Amino acid sequence: MDRRNFLKSLGMMGATTLAATSPWLRTFATAEETARERCRIGMIGPGSRGRFLLSFLAQNPKCEVVAFADIYQPSLDEALKVVPTAKTYKDYRLLLEDKSIDGVIIATPLNTHYQIALDAFDAGKHVYCEKAIAYTMEQTLDIYRKHKETGRVFFTGQQRLFDPRYIKVMEMVHDDVFGDINAVHAFWNRNGDWRREVPSPDLERLINWRLYKESSKGLMTELACHQLQVGTWAIGKLPVRVMGTGAITHWKDGRDVYDNVHCIYEFDDGRQMTYGSVISNKFYGLEEQILGTTGTVEPERGKFYFESYGPAPAPAFVQMLMEWEDKVWGANTFAGSSWDPEVAAINPGEYILGKAPETDGTSLLTEAFVEAVITGHQPPRIAEEGYYATQLCLIGHEAIVQGQPLPFPEKMKIPYKPYGT
Ligand SMILES: NC(=O)c1ccc[n+]([C@@H]2O[C@H](COP(=O)([O-])OP(=O)(O)OC[C@H]3O[C@@H](n4cnc5c(N)ncnc54)[C@H](O)[C@@H]3O)[C@@H](O)[C@H]2O)c1
Repeated sequence: MDRRNFLKSLGMMGATTLAATSPWLRTFATAEETARERCRIGMIGPGSRGRFLLSFLAQNPKCEVVAFADIYQPSLDEALKVVPTAKTYKDYRLLLEDKSIDGVIIATPLNTHYQIALDAFDAGKHVYCEKAIAYTMEQTLDIYRKHKETGRVFFTGQQRLFDPRYIKVMEMVHDDVFGDINAVHAFWNRNGDWRREVPSPDLERLINWRLYKESSKGLMTELACHQLQVGTWAIGKLPVRVMGTGAITHWKDGRDVYDNVHCIYEFDDGRQMTYGSVISNKFYGLEEQILGTTGTVEPERGKFYFESYGPAPAPAFVQMLMEWEDKVWGANTFAGSSWDPEVAAINPGEYILGKAPETDGTSLLTEAFVEAVITGHQPPRIAEEGYYATQLCLIGHEAIVQGQPLPFPEKMKIPYKPYGT
């Protein structure tokens, strides 16, 4: 979806709520004025994600991708197939020395983001850093502070912030269409070893960096990052405490990050957001279930469901069980019908945007970054959403490692005003 259609699809939204729930969309306010302007972008780490971003940047008339830096020649070769005119470097510091480059995309493995992002800000570049921002909470705070000190634009790879179905549904959530949101159940399940093919064994740690503690925190930094941000966007505040547990229960193949994690994030008023991820069963896939008193949202599926939808008849075998239960317990004064199992509603729901989702927000996210690089204006709250998404992953991971509930540390808090408060 391009920007024009995107803005049209949001046309039905109230400007006030939109400004409160998704203020970073203001980036596009200058899009017509800057129609003839261009910026020069360098990409550090044009691997799998980097090249996906490149597929949008290379099509954007306001952007010229002029350089790539990567320590792995095959990644440079692949990127040159998309933009053959770009310069290439093995050392990202040489790319940063090019004063004609306005902004950089950092799409390297997690453990390398810290130094690269600090160096990029110091070199005066605007920065888009893939999620999670950094490997530790302290590093994440340092990068955020560097962004503030240098005044350079800072975006992170949270594409749901630009996904029309999320934006639309958050407007509805904050307009109380689904009643009080008391919980969010987020999960990301896959069935696979999460490995990439390695041309020679000495490249294992470079290519499969996600599977090793030295370079990743596994499912928490790679997957939870997106979904925890969605949960806080819906609940409208940040959690104060997290507890969690994790283990390697299936893929005992030499990796040392968990393949099975579950966390509970608690808010100051007792509401909760759960996060679970396993990579040995994909039946329930990926979702952030937003649970309101009058409705439910499943934004990944692109649907919402009202509680008031007519009760569907229970499947025959459940009815049979219930009848049997009634016979057994009917005469029993202390049990009765409260023992009946709740059967999940059969409700087809409605599409948030009237049809099944076709894309995510990645193209618009890159378009917004380009726009911000051209104007030099940091959009409201975008860096802060990315900051807290990363910090919540990292504190969740830490709670798992320490095996105890952890409060969100005071010293990691940054100024943040969610949802027009
Ligand atoms: N937003 C999203 O939905 C999303 C999706 C996938 C990945 N990502 C993020 O993108 C980043 C990259 O993931 P990926 O799957 O593309 O990994 P990848 O391994 O495919 O690509 C990383 C690239 O960085 C290069 N690299 C490694 N160290 C480097 C260094 N010091 N200097 C320069 N280049 C270096 C590698 O050679 C490789 O080409 C990660 O932070 C990941 O979390 C985000």
